[in-house]
Amino acid sequence: MDGGNALHRNREWPATGLPQARVTAAVVAKGLAETGIDAMALGGHDWWLGTEFVQALVREHSLPILAANLTCDGTAPFPGGVVVERGALRFAVVGVTTGEPQGCEVGDPRVLAESALAGLGEVDVAVLLAPEGEAALEAWGASQSAFDLVVVGDSDIPSTTSVPWGDGWRVQSGSRGKQVGVATIEPVSGGHGLTRTGEGATPTAGAHVLSTRLIALAEALREDPDIAAIVADGKVRIAETEAAPARPIDSVARRVASGSAYAGRDTCAGCHAQADAQWQTTSHAHAWTTLDAAGRGLDRSCVGCHVTGWEQDGGPQEPAAIGAFRDVQCEVCHGPSAAHVADPATIKPVRSPSVTVCTTCHDGERDGGQFDAETYMPRIHHGHAE
Ligand code: HEC
Ligand code: HEC
Ligand code: HEC
Ligand code: HEC
Repeated sequence: MDGGNALHRNREWPATGLPQARVTAAVVAKGLAETGIDAMALGGHDWWLGTEFVQALVREHSLPILAANLTCDGTAPFPGGVVVERGALRFAVVGVTTGEPQGCEVGDPRVLAESALAGLGEVDVAVLLAPEGEAALEAWGASQSAFDLVVVGDSDIPSTTSVPWGDGWRVQSGSRGKQVGVATIEPVSGGHGLTRTGEGATPTAGAHVLSTRLIALAEALREDPDIAAIVADGKVRIAETEAAPARPIDSVARRVASGSAYAGRDTCAGCHAQADAQWQTTSHAHAWTTLDAAGRGLDRSCVGCHVTGWEQDGGPQEPAAIGAFRDVQCEVCHGPSAAHVADPATIKPVRSPSVTVCTTCHDGERDGGQFDAETYMPRIHHGHAE
């Protein structure tokens, strides 16, 4: 099951990103349908794709959406809950939605989820799918909940462990589809509710026993030919959507059009040969090529950290416009420097960029948590000996 916001994860995207986001959502939908998923919720980030688009995608792939608090045109488009049997246990799964789907109404998640749950009859474990945990769970406040387990889609809580929520537990498997969470429930005869094992947990007697772990999804799926085919097709369609020629970027000089606040690395090289020579030895000099080799050179969810000035004033706003901005160039760290180029003696860029510049990209998540300032900083130094 999925807690929501699997189709799209960032409603702050500029509207120009919509076509590509829809292609990606279709890839995710097809992949999820392929896995035989039992239940999923929709969140506010998903709805950014457009109500009609989302509803059509759900129909096309028969996605098992649950939305107890959603009404569109006076009727509920999706069931609120479903009973799923696994081994000796009966699970009630109820989903709620968040956000502002156009043309629909989002009702009180708590009242409607609990009434959907009551409608499912006797079960052993009650599960709630809650997108954007804080937004969906606010309605419960500090009061007790009828749910034993909450699966949160897209939230800031750490992804590795289950955390207490009322009498039950709250889990999430991290963002960007990097991991899948596995909840194993050991039934106890005549048991009621869930207790947790593992680090720091004091099990409660008479409750079914919950343990959770995470699996890296890329590893788990790499072997699957059907999923691989869906992803490969998605990459082709993203390139088509961005209407970029087959080799759009490598053939373009790094020279940036005049009028931009950026000057481009070719311009710097003429006066800062030593810094440039050092830069060329770093992997920043081929960061876009690395991405492109992975078939993601035009992917809006990737390019931001593999190019220069993405979505900044004077920088590229579209994947097809990356051209001269490919790779992690000088101005990523030193700031846009066209003014300095025009008047080097009086206008100076940032001389010594700090580690906070690095961690905008080496963010501890997307980079696999490999960043270590002490070893990484010396590897990019190109100043005079200090
Ligand atoms: C026309 C030559 C020229 C070009 C082109 C040029 N610079 Fe400079 N840059 C200079 C000079 C001259 C200095 C001052 C050197 C000094 O004071 O030792 C300087 C200083 C710097 C400094 C140090 C600032 C300081 O406060 O000491 C940085 C960083 C820098 N440039 C980055 C860049 C970047 C990035 C580019 C390309 C966008 C670039 N420069 C293009 C000539 C140039
Ligand atoms: C938040 C910034 C950020 C985003 C977004 C991002 N990357 Fe990266 N990526 C990095 C950083 C930083 C490294 C270097 C990590 C290191 O070596 O310490 C990296 C390295 C890589 C590498 C080379 C190392 C490796 O892991 O094999 C590949 C390939 C890559 N990224 C692909 C992608 C793809 C595909 C996407 C989009 C799905 C993406 N990146 C999105 C920051 C980002
Ligand atoms: C715009 C995003 C961005 C910023 C800002 C950035 N990096 Fe990177 N960095 C990357 C990407 C992407 C890669 C991987 C490139 C590749 O493998 O092709 C990388 C790779 C590296 C590597 C090589 C890692 C390896 O094992 O191959 C080092 C070292 C590094 N960065 C240090 C730094 C430092 C230090 C800073 C700050 C002063 C910094 N980076 C700022 C995106 C960034
Ligand atoms: C990943 C971040 C990063 C990138 C990319 C980067 N620099 Fe730097 N640069 C630094 C840092 C940090 C310092 C200060 C420490 C040092 O001296 O190396 C610096 C220092 C400098 C200085 C001042 C050196 C001195 O001794 O006066 C110049 C000039 C400079 N960089 C030019 C460039 C040019 C040109 C490029 C592109 C070819 C570039 N930098 C790319 C991070 C970066």
